[in-house]
Amino acid sequence: MTMVRKFTERYYEPSEHDAFVALVNDVKKSNYLPRYHITPKAGLMNDPNGLAYYNGEYHFFFQWYPFDILHGLKHWGHTMSNDLVHWTDQEFALIPDQEFEKNGCYSGNAIEYNGDLYLFYTANYKAANGKIPKQGLAIMDKRGYIKKLDKPIIDHFPKGLSGELRDPFVFERNGQFYMLLGGSKILNREKRKKFGDDGVLLLYRSQDLFNWEYQGEIDLPIDRGYMLECPSMITIDGKDVLLLSPMGVEPTPHHFKNRFATVYLVGQLDIDNLIFTVDHWDELDSGFDFYAPQAFYGKDHLPLMSAWFGCGEPHYPVSEKWKHGLTFTQELRLKDNILYRYPVQSIVDVFDQKMEINDNRVSFPNRYYHLHLTENFNFKIGQMDDYWEIIYNKKNSLVTLSRAGLKKKIDESYGFSRFAEISALSEIDVFVDNSFVEVYLNKGEHVFSFVVFQEEKDCLVGDVEAFSGSFSTIELS
Ligand code: FRU
Repeated sequence: MTMVRKFTERYYEPSEHDAFVALVNDVKKSNYLPRYHITPKAGLMNDPNGLAYYNGEYHFFFQWYPFDILHGLKHWGHTMSNDLVHWTDQEFALIPDQEFEKNGCYSGNAIEYNGDLYLFYTANYKAANGKIPKQGLAIMDKRGYIKKLDKPIIDHFPKGLSGELRDPFVFERNGQFYMLLGGSKILNREKRKKFGDDGVLLLYRSQDLFNWEYQGEIDLPIDRGYMLECPSMITIDGKDVLLLSPMGVEPTPHHFKNRFATVYLVGQLDIDNLIFTVDHWDELDSGFDFYAPQAFYGKDHLPLMSAWFGCGEPHYPVSEKWKHGLTFTQELRLKDNILYRYPVQSIVDVFDQKMEINDNRVSFPNRYYHLHLTENFNFKIGQMDDYWEIIYNKKNSLVTLSRAGLKKKIDESYGFSRFAEISALSEIDVFVDNSFVEVYLNKGEHVFSFVVFQEEKDCLVGDVEAFSGSFSTIELS
């Protein structure tokens, strides 16, 4: 008897090729596609996975349900670039076609070892009585050939934890390999209403990347929500920078307004005693559409990061056959223990056509532009009946982003405002890439990442005298 799979449980098979190509061609007609962000050629994209500079090129993998804009059975997509601007699609990297990963190839990272790229992922496996966490491995060689191991490398979970244990992040330290895993204690939703910490960060150790030994839970002095997802770590100027995506952090008036949060912690991971000592920590992004960031080393060991340009499942007021994407690749820097991130130079450089500005009202020639403001940080972008805006209250050291003025309102249940607290604001950089917008305060001390769906060409209106602009006409295939 042939098993009939539910639509959301379909994985890609060669017999689907023609139907899939038709869907991809449909997506190309969309009015809202960004040019310089990575977006799915069809379906829904979420977390960046396995970000790596390998064999002289950038390899980005990502979570992907190719057939529709829902969180169906997750595949890993794959794309490659020399400059983080021009990307060549590599089709599917991991297709969940094995029994042990029957509910999807979930997130993970990559490291280079013995000339190959090792791709770690969670093999999502739901049994009748709940999830059984399994971590998988696939190995890519220099020709781009990917071989998945036929069984998981970790197939158990420590006592007292739920089956929600995932998103391996592997790194090397002192000649050994370590893996971070995010997870949760046995979930008790009633208890969680009081926001006890049930999110956990686990550490495993290995000599060979195949055999892993559980070390324990890492002590973290922050609200970990009820579940921690997508841990990621990078060392900058001798400090460890840990990125986490906790679910269920208690919102405050100006922080943690998204359903799922992201934080960064700057300090030191004491790997033998399983303690992360924190010098400073903060929410990572102040916008609406940002989650599951992953850090990695680029060319010349440059600390870089990208994240899912999305968060949870907001309702978008457009009917499209693609959803979400990845943020720009950003370079990471530390200044006084604060993490700054800003698009890599090759991305900034695509906005190469200087714009003439002779007024505090300016029309943009297209929807791909960069604005740099150095004074009077109150402005609206769009038309008078369809705009988003930035409001700066110097007295309260508060920057507000509001999407309330948009004609196409985006999921009211998420609220229309987001905030960033900043003591001295000296510059703002706005990058508009059609429906994806990234706003950087003080060159990345705080960042708002968010989507907007506007019809008309944009106009900037505001009390802005000191600004410069540039736009891009570089078409990417
Ligand atoms: C985060 C996440 C991960 C999981 C993946 C599934 O957005 O939920 O924890 O591995 O997405 O697509």
